[in-house]
Amino acid sequence: MTTMKRIQYHRYGGPEVMQFEDFQPGRPGPGEVLVRVKAAAANPMDWKIRNGELKIMTGRKFPRGLGHDFAGVVAAVGDGVSRLGVGDEVLGGASVKAAGAFAEMVVAEETAVVPKPASLSWAEAAAIPIVGLTAFQAMVSTSRVHTGQAVFVHGCLGGVGRAAAQLALAHGATVGGSCRDTAVQEAHDLGIDPVVDFDFDATKLAGRFDVVFDTAGTLPIRTAKALLRPDGRIIDINPTLAKFVRGTLPGPFRVLIGKAVTADLDAVARAAGAGVLRLPVARTVPLDEAIAALTELERNRTPKGGKLIITTG
Ligand SMILES: NC(=O)c1ccc[n+]([C@@H]2O[C@H](COP(=O)([O-])OP(=O)(O)OC[C@H]3O[C@@H](n4cnc5c(N)ncnc54)[C@H](OP(=O)(O)O)[C@@H]3O)[C@@H](O)[C@H]2O)c1
Repeated sequence: MTTMKRIQYHRYGGPEVMQFEDFQPGRPGPGEVLVRVKAAAANPMDWKIRNGELKIMTGRKFPRGLGHDFAGVVAAVGDGVSRLGVGDEVLGGASVKAAGAFAEMVVAEETAVVPKPASLSWAEAAAIPIVGLTAFQAMVSTSRVHTGQAVFVHGCLGGVGRAAAQLALAHGATVGGSCRDTAVQEAHDLGIDPVVDFDFDATKLAGRFDVVFDTAGTLPIRTAKALLRPDGRIIDINPTLAKFVRGTLPGPFRVLIGKAVTADLDAVARAAGAGVLRLPVARTVPLDEAIAALTELERNRTPKGGKLIITTG
C-alpha cells in the first residue's frame, strides 16, 4: 500500500511530540474498515491520550497516530464487515487504542462507523462522533430526558454541552446552563434558559433540575446536589478516582464514559442530518498545518464557539 501522511508521536508528551510524518496504513482486520479521511475533529481526549493519561489502555507501542473523530470514504473492508462497503461516505471514531484519525487514511472498527448524512459537509460530519455520542448517552440512553423535565448543562457551549443541550431540548426538556459570561446570548439563541456564568450562585437555581450534566468536571458536588429536584441525577464525564468511587455509592452522582454504540452514533448522525443537532465549525485547517492549530487549541482553548476541523486532500 502507498505511503500516506499523518500526525503521529514517538513518545507520550506535550504538543511538542507531534510530528507530521509518513506512515503505512494497515489493512483492515476482521470487523474493521479502512477510511480515506476527508475531515477529522479535535477533542480534549486527543491530547489527554497523547500526554499519556490513558497509557494503561493505549500501551507503549510507538509511533502512535493521533485523533479519533473523522468523516470520509470507505476504501477497504475487513472480513465480516457487512453494514458498510467500499465507496460509502461515513463518519465515525477510531478506537482509543489505535487512534490515528489526523491522517489521510485511518482504520476503525465497523461498529464505530455509520453512514454520513448527505446534508452534512465533511467537516460537519467529522464534528459529531465523540461529542454527539457522549451527549446522547448522557441525555437519552442514561437519563431518558422527556417533556416536563429540566436539565442543567454546566459548560453548555462546549462540544459535549452544546450537543447535550440540543438533544435534551429536542426530547422536550427545558435546558438551563452555564457558559462564559461573554457568550450568554449564544446560549439563549440555542434555547437555553436560564443561562448563568461558570461561578453562578446555586441558591438562585436550587431544586429546579432533574438532570445536572457537568461537562467541565468543575461543579462542586454540593452545588450540583443543590440544583436537583428530588430523584434527580448528576452526570460527570471527567472522571477521577474519587469520582469513580462516588459514582458507585448510593446517591444521584454517576460518572459516564461514552461508548461506541452503533445505534447511538447512527441516531446522533441522523439528528445532525435533520438539523436537530448543530455543531458549529470554528476553524478548518489542512492536515499539514494542523499541529500548530492543535497546539493553539490545547494551550489557549481557542478557537472557541465550535470545533477545530482538520481537512485532507
Ligand atoms: N467521559 C467521556 O466519555 C467524555 C467524552 C467526551 C468528552 N469528555 C471530556 O469532557 C470534557 C468536555 O469535552 P468537550 O469536548 O465538550 O470540550 P470543550 O469543547 O473544550 O468544552 C469545554 C467547555 O467547558 C467550558 N468551561 C471551561 N471552564 C469551565 C468552568 N470552570 N466551568 C464550567 N465550564 C467550563 C468551556 O468554556 P469556554 O470555551 O468558554 O472556555 C467549554 O465550553 C473534556 O474534559 C473531555 O475530555 C469525556
